[in-house]
This record gives sequence, C-alpha cells and structure tokens, in this order.
Amino acid sequence: VVDISTLYKETGMFTYDPGFTSTASCESKITYIDGDEGVLLHRGYPIEQLAEKGDFLEVCYLLLYGELPTAAQKKDFDYRVTHHTMVHEQMNRFFTGYRRDAHPMAVMVGTVGALSAFYHDSTDITDPHQRMVASLRMIAKMPTIAAMAYKYHVGQPFVYPKNDLDYASNFLRMCFAVPCEEYKVNLVLSRAMDRIFILHADHEQNASTSTVRLAGSSGANPFACIAAGIACLWGPAHGGANEAALNMLMEIGSVDRIPEYIERAKDKNDPFRLMGFGHRVYKNYDPRAKIMQKTMYEVLEATGHADDPLMQVALELEKIALNDPYFIEKKLYPNVDFYSGITLRALGFPTTMFTVLFALARTVGWIAQWNEMIEDPSQRIGRPRQLYTGAPQRDYVPLGNRS
Ligand code: ACO
Repeated sequence: VVDISTLYKETGMFTYDPGFTSTASCESKITYIDGDEGVLLHRGYPIEQLAEKGDFLEVCYLLLYGELPTAAQKKDFDYRVTHHTMVHEQMNRFFTGYRRDAHPMAVMVGTVGALSAFYHDSTDITDPHQRMVASLRMIAKMPTIAAMAYKYHVGQPFVYPKNDLDYASNFLRMCFAVPCEEYKVNLVLSRAMDRIFILHADHEQNASTSTVRLAGSSGANPFACIAAGIACLWGPAHGGANEAALNMLMEIGSVDRIPEYIERAKDKNDPFRLMGFGHRVYKNYDPRAKIMQKTMYEVLEATGHADDPLMQVALELEKIALNDPYFIEKKLYPNVDFYSGITLRALGFPTTMFTVLFALARTVGWIAQWNEMIEDPSQRIGRPRQLYTGAPQRDYVPLGNRS
C-alpha cells in the first residue's frame, strides 16, 4: 500500500483510477474482506459465526461500537432501538402523496431523505449525542418505513410497530399482518429474516457506502446521507441485483435453457450478464452466498416450497457456471444476491421489495461508516480529480454567427 495523499501537493501529479479499483478512500476498522480467500469479518468476527450465533441488533451494536455487547448493554441497546421504531404521524401524508404504483425504492429514497425535515434535533453532526440519536433512529425507523412502503405498494393499511417483538418479527408483522386476522410469528421465518439482515449489514467501501461517506464528507446531515446511499444501492449492478437475479432465474425458467444463458453471458456483443454472479472484491465464493443458500433451504422448507423449480434452476446454473472455463478464468462466483431472491420470494415479498430489504439491513453499515468518518480527524471533503478530455479553450460565438 502506497500513501499518495500528498502526491499532488508535492509533484502536481495525480492518479487515474476509474471505478476506484486500486484506490483506498479511507482507513476503517469496521469490516475486513479478503476477496481471494472469501473471508468477511466485522470488527474481526467472521460473518459465519455472527450469522449462526448472533442476532441483527447485536451485529448493529458491534458495527457501531466496535465490540460485542454484554448482556446488559444488549438489553439497553434493544430498548433504545425499540424506543425509536415509530415514525412521525405526519409521515403518513408523505406516503399518500406517492403514486401507488411507485417503486418502493423510489418511496424509500424520498421518505428517508425527508426524515431530516422531521427530526431536526438529531442533525447537528458536531454533537456526538445527536449523532447517536440519529443512528438509533435510522436503525429503528427503517423497518417501519420499509414496511409502510410495502403496505402502500399493495394497497393495505399501515401496521404500527409492536415493540414486544424482536426486530425481525416486528418487521415481518408490519409487512404481513392484516386487519381482522391474528398474526402469528413464525420463528423459523423471523430467524431467517434476521440472518438475511446480518448478511447485508456492512460490506466496507462498496458503491453505496462510499456514496454515504462522500455525501457525509461535505457535512450533510445523516438522513440525507443515508438517502443518497439508498439511491446508489438501487442500481442493478449493486443492490438491485437481487431483484435482477430472480427475474433472470424466472426468465430462464427451466434447467434445459441454462446453456443458452451461459453462452449469452460469455458473448461480449450481448449486454446480458449472469445476475448474482461476480464481485469487485470476491474472486472466490462470497461467504454470504453460502449462508444465504442454507437460509434458502430453511425458508423453502418452512413455507412448503421445498421443491421450488427456481431453486433447481439456480443450483444447476451455479454448477454449470462454476465448471465453465470463462467463469473459472474470470473468477466469477455466486454473490449474496444469487440465492436471496428465491429466499425473499418464499418469505412473501414481491421482487420490488428486495432492494428495500437490502437498504434496511445496510443502514447500520452506512451509519457506522458515517460515524467513523465524522470522528476521523484526517477526513477531508471527498473530491475526486478527473482527466479532462473535452474541447480546449475557445471563444464564445454569438448565436447569429453559428453555422
Ligand atoms: N456475467 C458475465 N460476465 C461477467 C459477470 C457476470 N455476472 N461479471 C463480470 N463479468 C465479466 C466482465 O464482462 C469482464 O469481462 P472482460 O474481462 O472480458 O471485460 C470481467 O468479468 C470483469 O468484470 P467487471 O465488470 O470488470 O468487474 P467489476 O468488478 O467492475 O464488476 C460486478 C463487478 C458489477 C458485480 C459484476 O460482476 C456484475 O455486473 N455482476 C452482475 C451483477 C451483480 O450480481 N451485482 C451484485 C454485486 S454484489 C452486491 O452488490 C451485493
């Protein structure tokens, strides 16, 4: 690693690195990825252990504070998050202003961006207390807003949080409870939802996290920064890939059509890519994809879809791709999005909600990274350079003289 932060000042030169493939934008103590070995650690703890033994709020605490909580700290943290799950009643009006066929991610970008208009008392980024209140508010309110986006999308009344439930059960209830019917928590599905949140909690300097940091580097308020992260996450090359992966599996439809799509993915004249495959950092199996595959089996079993034909397509597609010289040479493996679509669909979510769930879970990563940046005395406003390739200086031509 070479520190070139003073290169321009000392020599007048700067580096050209489109896509930031070889440029670190910050120092961070939160998440470590070894892409060649397929390792993901949060504050030093392997993702496999956190997903197997921890719960999402515990991981939130770990990402925010750097250590796993003691039992008393965990109880207190759960209570503080729970305390903030309601959203301002006036936010309901926001929702009724959206077209009801709006994509839920569009609703999320707008609604989260608007939070700073409702919670002025946690927008002073120089005050550590306000920063922590904003952080807890974001983690607590995101499931409520995401569930409201879902309910609005399907034309059902909003369901308020029920704070004696755990984080994931509360979210599933806000999404799937309907008036006049008792809602029963299914612990297998709640545990699966919680694990999916853990798998998406943070992933160091990905596009949306870098967006949050860049927006935050100007001193913007945390709600605006998270809204910027949501907007970035929406793209099909990033968080939108889980929706795109499921759509692709449905389009392929049956095992016998897989070779045709594998050939298309290899054809440089065809823009088609295998969605849910490949990663900028992992040049090995994404460790989250393995846990997601296990979670998929559990959810399909619990929901009576153990013979889901799309699962057969996905498993076969993975097998064929992993033995194909093109995918071997380019080190393209399934990423976390490959199996998440099938799992989320079995949980009852429409594809349009998939990226919303990703945003909900990634909020803690964004907010932890944002806090780390604000507290880092060496951080300056993010301001990339460019290689200008446009016209040289020329004189203005009056309108009547232009041919
Ligand atoms: N299918 C077919 N070929 C692929 C795929 C794919 N899914 N992904 C990469 N390649 C090929 C590229 O065509 C390129 O080939 P070339 O060397 O002949 O030009 C080579 O592999 C390297 O790909 P890049 O696009 O340069 O790699 P980059 O790191 O920029 O992109 C990305 C990573 C965006 C994830 C890419 O693999 C992709 O588009 N995958 C599909 C979308 C997806 O699953 N995104 C989710 C990412 S994980 C997340 O956000 C949670």
